[in-house]
Amino acid sequence: MSKPVYLDYNATTPIDPEVVAAMKPFLEEEFGNPSSTHWFGILPKRAVENARKQVAEILNCAVDEIIFTSGGTESNNHAIIGTAQALKHKGNHIITTQVEHPAVLEVCRYLESFGFNITCVGVDVYGMVDVSHIKDAITSETILISVMHANNEIGTIEPIEEIACVAKEKQVLFHTDAAQSAGKISTDVNSLGVDMLSIAGHKLYAPKGVGALYVRKGVNPDIFMHGAGQEMGRRAGTENVPGIAALGKACEIARRDMIVNSVQMKKTRDTLFQNLQKKWSELRRNGHPEKVLPNTLSISFKGLEANRILEEIGLQVAASAGAACHSDLVEISHVLLATDLPETWSKGTIRFSTGKNTSDADIESAVTITLEALKTLTRD
Ligand SMILES: Cc1ncc(COP(=O)(O)O)c(C=O)c1O
Repeated sequence: MSKPVYLDYNATTPIDPEVVAAMKPFLEEEFGNPSSTHWFGILPKRAVENARKQVAEILNCAVDEIIFTSGGTESNNHAIIGTAQALKHKGNHIITTQVEHPAVLEVCRYLESFGFNITCVGVDVYGMVDVSHIKDAITSETILISVMHANNEIGTIEPIEEIACVAKEKQVLFHTDAAQSAGKISTDVNSLGVDMLSIAGHKLYAPKGVGALYVRKGVNPDIFMHGAGQEMGRRAGTENVPGIAALGKACEIARRDMIVNSVQMKKTRDTLFQNLQKKWSELRRNGHPEKVLPNTLSISFKGLEANRILEEIGLQVAASAGAACHSDLVEISHVLLATDLPETWSKGTIRFSTGKNTSDADIESAVTITLEALKTLTRD
């Protein structure tokens, strides 16, 4: 039996063969510790610094503004907890949104147990934050705003530039979680106007377990990992050299191929939607109609259950559910709940996400298989 069509690139991406080649020497002969002053440390150290340059290039920042981490979750923890600790003498209020990834929401919830007040701003039906709601939430106690660049479930791209203006005007630090946007749309930190930005390697064709945090010069979140002083003293621990080399290469490729890849992802994503829509009227698309990642397609199938659809297509198409139904309990994702989507729709929500390797043939199969599954489920 052949492998299912992979349409879950927002969950994770395969490792690009060029990335595998870039990390391979550091899994094999170049095993040295980048901190070693002898011969074996030379190439690993050079690889880490080259990767820092490659990551800095995709973010349009200085090399010493990049800290390597273990991924998106750590980057978010570092930015949010680090800022809370560094600025607790100034205030105890943090603003975020209802549609963040748990790697932001749970961090904020954790900080509540230390006396921080968290405001989770709501979103409109497209999952879009209203900048005036952020502005209105700012108090004299606000020390940080954290709003994701693009949503992982529905793909909506948030108005980061405008929020950055408000944050600057009110002199509040601004962090964005760009785990889903990096490599798909521009993540130029100067155009975005953010003070901190998180990226995750495995969303842009590097391996799992590596990521980076951009921290603007002059911004000083508390040290995240205490130890021997690696990563400019902010995140100690012997560097994950193969992972870092991989992330650097992945950023170089993403920057080089961004236009071609986004055209391809958008074309396949849109064909998938149009062909499903032609044959199945009881569906609706979630997320913003224009301000959306080029690869993400969240569709709700009226009256159906996402898990049942995934069971039907599972051996042939890999996608994600936006809701989980266990016996008579329906768990709708916090993102769909925030958009006020009625339950008859939200419980039948599937997220398809295309990638740079998605072909027209993949989409053709996915359409046929999904339509077949929908027919089977409505026949029952
Ligand atoms: C928006 C967003 N932020 C953070 C993360 C977490 O990243 P990682 O898996 O690298 O810890 C993810 C992963 O799904 C994500 O989609």
